[in-house]
Amino acid sequence: MTISTLTVAPSADLSGTITLPGDKSISHRAALFAALAEGTSHIENFLVAGVTHAMLNALTSLEVEWELDDTSLTVQGPIPVRRTNIPTLFCGNSGTTMRLLAGAVAGVGLSSVLDGSPGLRRRPMERITVPLGQMGADITALDGRAPLTIRPAALSGAHYTLPIASAQVKSCVLLAALGAEGTTVLLEPGPSRDHTERMLRGMGVTVSSDREDVDGVLMYRTTLVPPTQPLAPLALALPGDISSAAFLMVAALITPGAAIKLSGVGLNPTRTGIVDALQAMGGDITISNMENRYDEPVGDITVRHSTLHGIEVGGDLVVRMIDEFPVFSIAAAHAHGQTVVRDAVELRHKESDRITRLCEQLTNVGIAVREKPDGFVLPGRTPAQGGTVTPHGDHRLAMSLAVAGLAARAPITVQDAAIIHESFPGFKPSLAYLGAQID
Ligand code: S3P
Repeated sequence: MTISTLTVAPSADLSGTITLPGDKSISHRAALFAALAEGTSHIENFLVAGVTHAMLNALTSLEVEWELDDTSLTVQGPIPVRRTNIPTLFCGNSGTTMRLLAGAVAGVGLSSVLDGSPGLRRRPMERITVPLGQMGADITALDGRAPLTIRPAALSGAHYTLPIASAQVKSCVLLAALGAEGTTVLLEPGPSRDHTERMLRGMGVTVSSDREDVDGVLMYRTTLVPPTQPLAPLALALPGDISSAAFLMVAALITPGAAIKLSGVGLNPTRTGIVDALQAMGGDITISNMENRYDEPVGDITVRHSTLHGIEVGGDLVVRMIDEFPVFSIAAAHAHGQTVVRDAVELRHKESDRITRLCEQLTNVGIAVREKPDGFVLPGRTPAQGGTVTPHGDHRLAMSLAVAGLAARAPITVQDAAIIHESFPGFKPSLAYLGAQID
């Protein structure tokens, strides 16, 4: 069901246990990598949402057969390479779909055009066209942006340093590297999520990760040797999405009397920055039942209402919680003392300019915040007054502002809230189940 506005009123005593839908990043990879494998892949707890439909629709355009039964996805690989005229691969709002597909299409040697929504057309793509071009790919963009046109070309392994840490860029290059001649070595200035490396290793590819001191700067290195055998199909059950869990974690931290449990959440250390940050603020968050599921750490998270204090966030921690700043800011609004976010200029290139738009919408509901070129500062102790907000087509902004309503002085109404379906269609029912006043 599509929701167009969402109103969240001050609530109390959230309680219960929630199992989160499959991780968005891992779902994207599972669908696409399965299409590159030889044979039938089976993926359980696949995220069924707008962004992953963009990936599945693109696979359909590539003539890959797949079937979704509730959240169980079956994919028949590999992508047939015989066609010359592939229709435009439409990636919707999904940057991950476009950047990962571009690498895969170049690596397999297909001819294609990748396009997306007006929002996606605004996002920077030279960050992938530059390294792919250095590998020999025939790829063009329009002023550094989508649509991207890719034609078959022989690729050679890359030795490339990413100017900013980015799992999308790293994964794009690694996917192209699967079809290149020679080893690819990537250096990154931060610990971006490593789901691609873990999944490819499980499919029989030699990929390694280590660190290197380059002129006093710690760099994260990934090395991939092109496989000589076809990729093995996947048989996976995906962990719950920690980025979706983050909304419920902050909901519980700021709502009086709350105590909730989130079970089966992905706890890959490249993604748990939000847990570290909220714990550093004094958040009562405990992890239990840790296990390894198909090389991804998974566990349960218990969160209780807490008195929070402000912290400073910068450096590698920013990379490890890159998608969580909108909801983190809601926790910071409730904290005693100032919270400073720096080194986060990358937030300006997400589904919206997540520095300007976030500060604007926080101000709209009465939360004190100051915008900085590379982040923002919240003085703290200024919970939302209530009001109406617009998420500017950004699903995470929509959910974060809705969460703010739980502990605001008056209800918050989020306009154009259907955008939430892009990543977390179960957001509203989950909050309602926990006892939130949400309509
Ligand atoms: C993603 C990586 C992140 C994140 C995005 C998903 C991925 O982007 O913001 O939502 O699945 O690789 P970057 O690592 O490119 O900043």
